[in-house]
Amino acid sequence: MEGFIMSGLERLKLTGRVELLPSGFYSSVVLVVENGHKKVVKLIRKPELNEQAIAQQLGDDIVAYGAELLRRGVRSPQVKVRLLGDVGEGWDVVVEAPFQGTDVAHLLLEADESDSVRLTRGMLGMISALFDYPLESGFELQIGIDPKPDNFTVSETGEMHYIDLMPPRYRRDGVPIVEFPEPTTDIGKKVAYYRYYDMRGILTVLRSQLCRNRFDLRPLFRRLIAEFAAQYPGLGRHMGLSVGEVFVDANLSGRLAIIEALAGDDMYAMRDIVTQLAFENPLYRHPCIDKVFHLSHFYQEAPSPENVCRVKKILRAMTRNESVEV
Ligand SMILES: Nc1ncnc2c1ncn2[C@@H]1O[C@H](COP(=O)(O)OP(=O)(O)O)[C@@H](O)[C@H]1O
Ligand SMILES: [Mg+2]
Repeated sequence: MEGFIMSGLERLKLTGRVELLPSGFYSSVVLVVENGHKKVVKLIRKPELNEQAIAQQLGDDIVAYGAELLRRGVRSPQVKVRLLGDVGEGWDVVVEAPFQGTDVAHLLLEADESDSVRLTRGMLGMISALFDYPLESGFELQIGIDPKPDNFTVSETGEMHYIDLMPPRYRRDGVPIVEFPEPTTDIGKKVAYYRYYDMRGILTVLRSQLCRNRFDLRPLFRRLIAEFAAQYPGLGRHMGLSVGEVFVDANLSGRLAIIEALAGDDMYAMRDIVTQLAFENPLYRHPCIDKVFHLSHFYQEAPSPENVCRVKKILRAMTRNESVEV
C-alpha cells in the first residue's frame, strides 16, 4: 500500500481491516471493515492543496456537490469531510462515505445480457434525473456528472448510487468546476465541460466506456443509448450522426476515409471505432482498445500528431484485418 495512504490512515486512527480500492487520478481510496460495518475513505493529496483555505474550499465543494446531486434525485453518499494538516508541504482532504456496494464496471465484467441491460438502464435512470431537471441552456446541465460505470455502485439491496464526488462538478457562484485543478487551456476547459456538463458529451462518454468494458455487447449499448437519447429533442439525432456511428455502416473505403480524416480532438470517434472493430473481430481485444484509449487521452491539449498517427495506424490495420502491433 502506498506510503502516503498509510501515513494518512495512521493519523486518522482508523481501525479495522483496510483494503485498497482501485482509484484514479485524484485520490487513493480504501475500504475499511470494522465489526461488520464497511466504509470507504478517500484521501486526496495534490500539490494544489498547499493552503488550508484551498483544502477547506475543496472540502466544502465536495459536500455542496453531493447536496446538489441529492436535490435532483441522484442518490449519492452522505459524506464526512475533514482536513489533515501538516502533511509534507500541504493539506490532505479526507472524504468518508458509507460503502455502497460493488461498482458497475466490476459487475459488467461478469454480467450476462439481461444484467447488462438492467445496469445500463440503471445508470441512464440516474443520469436522467439531471437531464430532466431545468437545463442551464441547450444541452448543458446545471451540474455535471462523470458517467463512467466505475462511478456507479449497486448496494446489497439493489439500489444504485453515484459515488464519485471528486472533482465536485457543480457551479460555484455560477462558474462550473470541471476538473481539480482546472485545465489552464481554453480547449482543455471546453473538452472537460463537454464531457461532464453537456448531455451529448455525457452520453458519448458513457457509450465509449461501456463499449470499452464489454466490446462484445457494443450493439446492445448503442441501442440502449440511442433509445434513451431519442427522448430528448435533438439529442437522438446528434448521437446517431457521430463519426463513430457513421463508421458502423460504412464500407471498407468509407471506413478508411473516416480514419484518414480523424483529427487530434476526435477522441471519441477514435474510441468508438476501436471498440466497434474489436466487436467485429474479437482477436484484437483489449490491447488495441487500451492503446487507443490511452493515445487519444485529452487533458490540457489534444493528443500529439504522433499519437494521432499511431492511433490511425492501429485503426487502419484493424479495419483491413491485418496484424497490429501495439
Ligand atoms: N461509497 C462507496 N461505496 C462503494 N465503493 C466505492 C465508494 N466510493 C468509492 N468506491 C470504489 O472506489 C473506486 C474509486 O472511487 P472514486 O470515488 O470513483 O475515486 P476516483 O476519483 O479515483 O475515480 C470506485 O470506482 C469504487 O469502486
Ligand atoms: Mg471514479
